[in-house]
Amino acid sequence: MPRALITGITGQDGSYLTELLLKNGYEVHGVVRRTSSLDRSRLHHLYSDESVYGKNLFLHYADLDDTTTMRRVLVSAAPDEVYHLAGQSHVGLSFEIAESTCKMTGMATLRMLEMIQDLEKVPRFFHASSSEIFGKPDTLPQNEQTPFRPVNPYGAAKAFATNMVSIYRNTFGLFAVNGIMFNHESPRRGENFVTRKICRAAAAIKAGRQKELLLGDTTAKRDWGHARDYVRGMWLSLQHATAEDYVFATGKLNSVQDVVEIAFATMELDWSKYVAQDQRFMRPAEPQKLVGDPKKASRLLNWTPETSFRELIEEMTQIEFKRVSGQVVSG
Ligand code: NAP
Ligand code: GDD
Repeated sequence: MPRALITGITGQDGSYLTELLLKNGYEVHGVVRRTSSLDRSRLHHLYSDESVYGKNLFLHYADLDDTTTMRRVLVSAAPDEVYHLAGQSHVGLSFEIAESTCKMTGMATLRMLEMIQDLEKVPRFFHASSSEIFGKPDTLPQNEQTPFRPVNPYGAAKAFATNMVSIYRNTFGLFAVNGIMFNHESPRRGENFVTRKICRAAAAIKAGRQKELLLGDTTAKRDWGHARDYVRGMWLSLQHATAEDYVFATGKLNSVQDVVEIAFATMELDWSKYVAQDQRFMRPAEPQKLVGDPKKASRLLNWTPETSFRELIEEMTQIEFKRVSGQVVSG
């Protein structure tokens, strides 16, 4: 039975990846932080399943900042594959907590590389890199050769980590992969990311629980896909014969305004009655025209995204409506 260790298992991607790896016959180990609440909602359905938890899913307390514990977890789990997904993932907040973002997103990745190369059996390593490394690129769409020009602390930290992964692969021969992922969303997306915020608000307004939705820049555009597709890409990248970097993207640009219109239409509401702009959600700097070219992932891994942008936003809004109406939504 192959063994995988996931940092960031409680996050959006970690939860979908756990499901995929369990389905593929893996023993999955995950790193969790001590928090004041034990409600790991995205993992609850697995955690509370006696046929899964403690049988082929194991959680270990550690923190990216606690190197001795991380090392101990790596030694005891002895994984064949490490998926390094943990970190402060909110771009806007990275301006407010720049130092800890750089520590957790940049330095912690370097530490992971150092730790895995000391292990008796050196595992394959996946790093969750981001389109934010491109910032304001000269060319579009962006691919694996596009130069890094980050415009925020998060992007700069990811650029550092991405460079380190390449350096350790080229210098020490580690099987280390950068998945340069463009935005991917799902009903499990954190509540302060724009798609979830909009879908949740549309559903709450429909249910009479909310009156308005305040947003920042609605002209901002992104390349948005479904998280389930992206974790499949993560897994495929570690099954390939050689370690490579891959862009995972849909290749299509949509605006925040497009998200608003689809979400409100799904709830049969006129968005213009409820949506307003609020300066508090504007960012000091915005990346430009981040749209990915996933040809390499398609050619080498046979990876293509299966869910369209419209399907994604409709699914997210419908699930929010079930949640706000008190229906139990599994996972
Ligand atoms: P997420 O939902 O915010 O999850 C982040 C995970 O990291 C959580 O499990 C969190 O644990 C954990 N974490 C944060 N700081 C930690 C620390 N100091 N020690 C241990 N664990 C820590 O993010 P996501 O959307 O799943 O994204 C996964 C990764 O992909 C992130 O690195 C993100 O930057 C990157 N990425 C995401 C996207 C996207 O569109 N989703 C695109 C490109 C790259 P808690 O639950 O305890 O907070
Ligand atoms: N969060 C948020 N809240 N964003 C808003 C809002 C708002 O009220 N109003 C407009 N936006 C705009 C942001 O300014 C940005 O241009 C866009 O919506 C998307 O914002 P987020 O959903 O917060 O995602 P992101 O693109 O900044 O970052 C995500 O994608 C990256 C990959 O490109 C995160 O998942 C990162 O971790 C990831 O690396």
